[in-house]
Amino acid sequence: MSVGIIGCGSMGSGIAQVAAQAGEWVLVFDTNSEAIKRAKVSLEAILSRLVEKQRITAEKKDEILSRIEFVDSLKKLSRCNLVIEAIVEKMEAKQSVFEMLEKIVDVNCVLASNTSSLSIASLAKGRLHPERIIGLHFFNPAPLMPLVELIPSLLSSNTIVENVRSRVANWGKTVVLAKDTPGFIVNRVARPFYGEALKMYEEGVGSIQEIDQAMREYGGFKMGPFQLMDLIGNDVNYAVTTTVWTQFYYDPRFKPSLTQCRMAEAGLLGRKSGQGYYSYPLNENALTPLDEAKAKYLFERIFFMLVNEAYDALFMQVASAEDIDLAMQQGVNYPKGLIAWGKEYGLPTVLAGLEFLFEEYGDDRYRPNPLLRKTAKAI
Ligand code: NAI
Repeated sequence: MSVGIIGCGSMGSGIAQVAAQAGEWVLVFDTNSEAIKRAKVSLEAILSRLVEKQRITAEKKDEILSRIEFVDSLKKLSRCNLVIEAIVEKMEAKQSVFEMLEKIVDVNCVLASNTSSLSIASLAKGRLHPERIIGLHFFNPAPLMPLVELIPSLLSSNTIVENVRSRVANWGKTVVLAKDTPGFIVNRVARPFYGEALKMYEEGVGSIQEIDQAMREYGGFKMGPFQLMDLIGNDVNYAVTTTVWTQFYYDPRFKPSLTQCRMAEAGLLGRKSGQGYYSYPLNENALTPLDEAKAKYLFERIFFMLVNEAYDALFMQVASAEDIDLAMQQGVNYPKGLIAWGKEYGLPTVLAGLEFLFEEYGDDRYRPNPLLRKTAKAI
């Protein structure tokens, strides 16, 4: 039986490559013929590069490509026992694809969504077999990022979830289980990485370069928050933050930033528009070393909030501590898992930092999570 992929933009074509590389037969459908052409060219180029780098043989490349078939009709997905949709991030569009699919595929076919922000319960509601609808959230670029978040809805069947978990693990992915809550694990826990960086910049406690430098040099992150926002796109990052904030009933912890809103409105989207917090191509000037006390302050404000968010995800049973730590390392390249890192850094220090900010600002955004407080107090 084959794996069906719907939508072959950056995510769909990456997931198709992952599945085919693992030996699955893959059928790809997209309503836009230009997108199909682009995906074919890009797959060919990516695999040729892997051959050049001697990561795969030329025969393996041909074998992978022969396993991916682009089809011109959704009906051709009738041979699939797993279909992953990676179309536009719009609830109605995804619901309509699932509605059409259930008339085409066999009753045992699992229907998965690669959504990064929509509720899986809403996708399952009204379907003939809601127990087979799940979230399967890959990270960009799918062939390189090991993480996949598997999200059952309240209506999903445990057997189906376990079967998909082992199938995707066989594709070489690290599969973590997440509750159907806004942002799942990564897009929830990572919010302060951007949000607190933007807030410190707005307050003038650090410049864009200084905050990025502190996170890289003091914190050991591969990229600073502003570099990463420019890579993701300020429009996309702002949309994710806004969705998570509204879905959490406007919890101030997730409040979006006006600076980011204006950047998106002005079309200063980052790398893709040539200008964001930095100008592209980058002018690599040598950086002056950052004062250690300043670097520590900038890093800790973001870090304390990240640890708080990781504890909140644990406290609210979004995922296990192990999965939360794996997710942040393998989905967004954090140098360490936040639960373990918080303990290593000293939870009493993290708690004291959060309490200071909470007191200083009188803002619920900084309220320490009860589990973090309890664990810190027990040390
Ligand atoms: P994209 O815009 O690059 O590709 C979407 C593709 O879907 C396009 O080729 C479009 O022609 C096709 N499409 C739209 N409606 C369709 C329909 N009704 N039937 C068939 N094809 C249709 O989008 P991208 O970035 O690949 O994202 C896809 C999904 O993956 C979204 O739900 C997004 O939230 C999610 N996601 C995106 C990530 C990213 O970093 N770009 C990361 C993780 C998840």
